[in-house]
Amino acid sequence: MTDKKLIEIAKKAAENAYVPYSHYTVGAALLTKDGKVYTGCNIENAAYGPTNCAERTAFFKAVSEGKREFLKIAVVGGKALHFKDYFSPCGVCRQVMREFCDDSFTVLLGKDGEEYLSLSLSELLPHSFSKSNIDI
Ligand code: THU
Repeated sequence: MTDKKLIEIAKKAAENAYVPYSHYTVGAALLTKDGKVYTGCNIENAAYGPTNCAERTAFFKAVSEGKREFLKIAVVGGKALHFKDYFSPCGVCRQVMREFCDDSFTVLLGKDGEEYLSLSLSELLPHSFSKSNIDI
């Protein structure tokens, strides 16, 4: 799976975003170590708080189907499917990535056109708190 293909899948996933309040459409495509892709979109709610981000939708779909090992995720975001600028995952989504992924997990930031950025989870969430901090 090429980076460009994964970003294309994320753009397509954003078409399903349920965003009657912000009109900010986000798409994610999460690649497992065994080569499967789980997509996600943001799903808003009239009570605002229950809104789920696209990245967490993708992670929760994958984990709920037994996947725990991930290689990379592509994300795009922008108003009404226009991905003018790079979009970067929120802090809560970064923490969810941290739960299942190591420092080398790759986050691809896409936008309109072919250009993209490739970052590691450790770049996005340095000095993080994780399950290794909990003595169990
Ligand atoms: N959103 C995401 O889907 N992912 C993020 O990482 C940040 C924000 C969504 C939530 C909401 O539906 C919209 O973007 C505006 O905040």
